[in-house]
Amino acid sequence: MGSAPKGDYRVSSPLTQDQLKALVGQAALSHVRAGTWVGVGTGSTVNHFIDALAASGVSILGAVSSSEASTQRLLGHGIVVSELKGGQTLDVYVDGADEIDPRGNMIKGGGAALTREKIVASQAQRFVCIVDESKWVEVLGHFPLPLEVIPMAAEVLIERFKTKGAQARLRMKGETPLVTDNGQHILDVWGLKISEPLAFEDEVSQWPGVITVGVFAHQRANVCLMGTSQGVKTFEF
Ligand code: 5RP
Repeated sequence: MGSAPKGDYRVSSPLTQDQLKALVGQAALSHVRAGTWVGVGTGSTVNHFIDALAASGVSILGAVSSSEASTQRLLGHGIVVSELKGGQTLDVYVDGADEIDPRGNMIKGGGAALTREKIVASQAQRFVCIVDESKWVEVLGHFPLPLEVIPMAAEVLIERFKTKGAQARLRMKGETPLVTDNGQHILDVWGLKISEPLAFEDEVSQWPGVITVGVFAHQRANVCLMGTSQGVKTFEF
């Protein structure tokens, strides 16, 4: 585990998973500075952050968004959304995760937005990860690892994962493969134990046809705000 957790918000009764997500969405506001551009991730936890940001009245310049869904939600609140500009550095990037380990490495992509998430995160000075306590793991890999892939490579990559003793499957939306905001497909991989996230990310990123691996080790979190039944705990990595 990184530095010792600091409990900073107390709650008195057990909360639902969605209430824990709302709690950390609100807590993330303390990492947002007025007069800056804010990187915004994707997912149900981030939706709470977007709503809290809009309600807070903190005067940011605007947001750089990681998905069409987050863009629509931001715009719905009247928050300015800008494309990422060359050389632009964001003060902070706020996003959820499917898993986070004690060094701040994450699995992301449950919402299929991993490529844009990694791009926006790469331009931020700090990655603030907001999760409920179910996302905390000692070793990444319990959650099926998402990869965004070029559609013609999917079958080849499924075979390749078999050599690692893992099972990859194309993510479907009804009867047809899910299509990402980038017009590509998602593979979800079961049966991995990712004890060396950086080496794993480097290796799989090289496989032809892989656009983005859902391991965020190069772009790992600097801070994790974790919603627990005891309140929000803060981890710094
Ligand atoms: C989207 C993501 C999300 O951050 C991740 O799936 C967590 O989602 P949620 O906040 O809904 O639990 O990586 O691509």
